[in-house]
Order: sequence, then structure tokens, then C-alpha cells
Amino acid sequence: MSGPNTNYDPVQVSPLDDDHVQAMVDEALAAIAAARTTAELKAVRIAHSGDRSPLALANREIGALPPQARKDAGQRVGRARGLLGGAIAERQEALAAAELDAALIAETVDVTLPVALAPQGAVHPITAMMDMMCDVFLDLGWEIAEGPELEAEWLNFDALNFTPDHPARWLSDTLFVEPTQNHTLMRTHTSPVQARALLARDLPVYVVCPGKVYRADEYDATHLPVFHQLEGLVVDKGISMAHLKGSLDHLARSLFGDGVETRLRPHFFPFTEPSAEIDLKCFVCHGASVGDPDNPCRTCRSEGWIEWGGCGVVNPRVLASAGIDTEIYSGFAFGMGIDRTVMFRNSATDLRDFVEGDVRFSRSLMGDAR
Ligand code: DAH
Repeated sequence: MSGPNTNYDPVQVSPLDDDHVQAMVDEALAAIAAARTTAELKAVRIAHSGDRSPLALANREIGALPPQARKDAGQRVGRARGLLGGAIAERQEALAAAELDAALIAETVDVTLPVALAPQGAVHPITAMMDMMCDVFLDLGWEIAEGPELEAEWLNFDALNFTPDHPARWLSDTLFVEPTQNHTLMRTHTSPVQARALLARDLPVYVVCPGKVYRADEYDATHLPVFHQLEGLVVDKGISMAHLKGSLDHLARSLFGDGVETRLRPHFFPFTEPSAEIDLKCFVCHGASVGDPDNPCRTCRSEGWIEWGGCGVVNPRVLASAGIDTEIYSGFAFGMGIDRTVMFRNSATDLRDFVEGDVRFSRSLMGDAR
């Protein structure tokens, strides 16, 4: 800043004279008018009316003027600053409004355009079938029982009355887990949950157990090394084969419709006595395809019946190994493949489709389940 000026000396403080101030104002107004964006206008404001603008610097010189000239110069600079402030505010408003309009136009959303929906998964057909089957029994008041997939050999075989040399134990069927002297294996069926349920639960027992089972099988259209079963077990007073037949018929009707017919065919399982396999009368050809090569049936392979699962009256030895008094209690059990059930209920032909993870397969197969 210049030193105190006792004599009016307009040359020394020329930035404050009228022409000079007017020139600064003109220059600033031109810059304000030329600003095309609020960002540019901000730069113009700093340059022409900020603390270090020519006008602000000129203002500092006022103190150097003789007293009678200070008022004049002060008013001149004050008017100039007021004028610029107003012009900047006006331009700011106009530019901001224009920018908002432009943004609204640029970001317009056409709500009538078709929406690109995020792809959604689907419930896997095995999960859907598992739920359907369990629901049939939950509705009757039964409970879900669970057991581990890595199982003790004793529960998978011995507790179910399999003899030590039973062929099912062979390495060619069963996946034993190293070290083999620990006698653990990937369970080959859901039946060990029967033994677990009997050991862990109070009587009477009414349970179903859905789950994965493992066998040293090939991977092809009709075999998977990992598949799913549903096990059922009832132990109560006075239970007979009639209760078993009634329960399985109820399950069959719930899944395949009222007209479905079942039959029990004698069989052998170490943990049930008597034992049977349960077949379903083919609900597509109703047996008409048998012996009629002109009208083959894909669902039952023209056999008229579809093999569904195994069942029987619980062998008293199994009950006894869980400490149950077989004079008072008896029971029935059954087990069937869930994957197989989906296959013939929903006409799937290749088990490999179940594990290949194509969501279109899941969507198409069990559309009625959920
Ligand atoms: N666990 C048998 C299997 O995997 C199926 C089975 C048969 C289960 C008879 C049972 C039963 O509960 O009573 O082939």
C-alpha cells in the first residue's frame, strides 16, 4: 500500500480515478457475460471481485488519498463492486438454471422403456421335491431328522443289521474315508439317520430325513455318485405294515395325484423284516404300454410299474440295538430316491442335468412346485 498522501495527487493513485475504475468494471462485465458455465463464472468472480482482483487492490489505495478525495473514490469503488456483485449473482442464477435444465434433459429416464431385469436363480428341482415330500409328512405331524453325510460305518451298516461281509460294504460300492481304520464313510443311504433318531429321540418317533448320499457309481444319465434320498421312520405301539402302506399311498397321491396306484413287492433289506419294494403304477400309460410295442411308454419303459423305493417293518434287531423294548414297540421305515422321483414325476431323462447348474433346467422342470 502507498504511504499517507497529504496532497491530492491523482496520478499516484490512478487506479482509483473514474476512467480506471470504469475500465475495470467494463472488463469484469465483459468477462461475466462471456462465462458459459458456473465454473467459469466462479473463476471470473475470483479474478474480478475477489480479494486479489484489480478492484480490491485499488480499494486498498484509498487510504493513500487526501481526505476529501477518499469519500469520492470510496463511493466509486463501492458502486463498482456493488455493480459487479449484482451482475455476478444474476449471471450465476441464469447459468445455474441453464445447467439444471441441461442436466434434467440429459438424465431423463424414459419410464416406458422395457426394464432389463436382473437375472434371477430358481429353486433347484431336487430342493423343490425334497420340500414337497417333507411337507406331506410335516402336515401329518412328523418331524425332520438329520444326520451327517460323513458317517460312522457302524451306523451306516452294523446298527442296521448289515452282516460284516455284506456286499454293500465293499469298496466298489462304498466311499470309505482315509484312514480306513477309523471306519468312517460317506453315507451310502439315509437309513443311518434311523439309528441316530432312535438313539437320540424319545418314543414315539415319527420322522422323515431328506439328504445327500454317496456311492462309488459312474456319472452317467442314470447314475450320480452323489444323489438324494428321503428316509421315513415310525416307531410306536401297535405299528404294522398297514400303517406303512397307508403312509406311502398318501405320499404317492400327494405327489402324483389321487388316481395313482401303488404295490408292495417282496424284497430283502437287513434292517426291515418283512421288506418290500414299493412300485407306482405308471401314471402316464397306466400299464397300457406293457406288451404293446406300438405304444411305448418312456416313463415306465413299458413296464407298467415304476420302482420307487424300499420299505418294511423295522427289524426288531434294529430297535433292540437302540435299546427299545420290542415287546411293546414296533415300527416301519421307507426310503426312496428324491432325484428319481423328480425324474419320473417331471419327465427328466438325464440325471446329469441335475448337476450341471443350468437355471433354465430348474425353471422348466418344477414350475408347479413353488
Ligand atoms: N436304504 C435303502 C437303499 O438305499 C432304502 C430303504 C429300504 C430304506 C428299506 C428303508 C427301508 O428305510 O425300510 O436302498
